[in-house]
Amino acid sequence: MKIIYVFSFAVFLLFGNTCQANRQLANRNGCMNCHADTDYDAPSWAELATNYKKYQGQPDAARIQGERLRQGTFFTKIKAHQKLTPTTATDLMEWIIDGAK
Ligand code: HEC
Repeated sequence: MKIIYVFSFAVFLLFGNTCQANRQLANRNGCMNCHADTDYDAPSWAELATNYKKYQGQPDAARIQGERLRQGTFFTKIKAHQKLTPTTATDLMEWIIDGAK
C-alpha cells in the first residue's frame, strides 16, 4: 500500500506542480521580461534548455550553474541574474536543465 502512496507522490512531483511552479518562479523573478518574445537579445527558454541539456543527470549541476548565473561573466552582468538567491537560482537552473517546459 505504502508503495502506491510513494508512487503517486512521485508522479505528482514529476507531472504535478513542479514545472508550472518553476515557470511561475521565472515569472516572479522577472525572467520573462527578457527571455520571452521581447526585443532584448536574450536567448529563448528553448535555446537555454538546449544549451543546458548536457547537465541532465549531473548531481549539483543546477547549483553550480545557478551560481555561475548569479556571478555573471566578466562582460555580461545582468541585474536580474545577480539578485537571485542561491536557492532560487538553483531552482530556476533545474527547471532550465529539465527542458524549461
Ligand atoms: C534584463 C534582461 C534579462 C533578464 C530580466 C533576465 N535575463 Fe537571463 N540573460 C539575458 C541576456 C541578454 C543573456 C545573454 C547574455 C549572457 O549569456 O549573459 C541572458 C542569459 C541567460 C542565461 C544563459 C547564461 C549563460 O551564459 O549560459 C540563463 C540561464 C539565463 N539568462 C537565465 C535567466 C533567468 C533564470 C532569469 C530570471 C531570474 C533571467 N535570465 C532574467 C537577459 C536577461
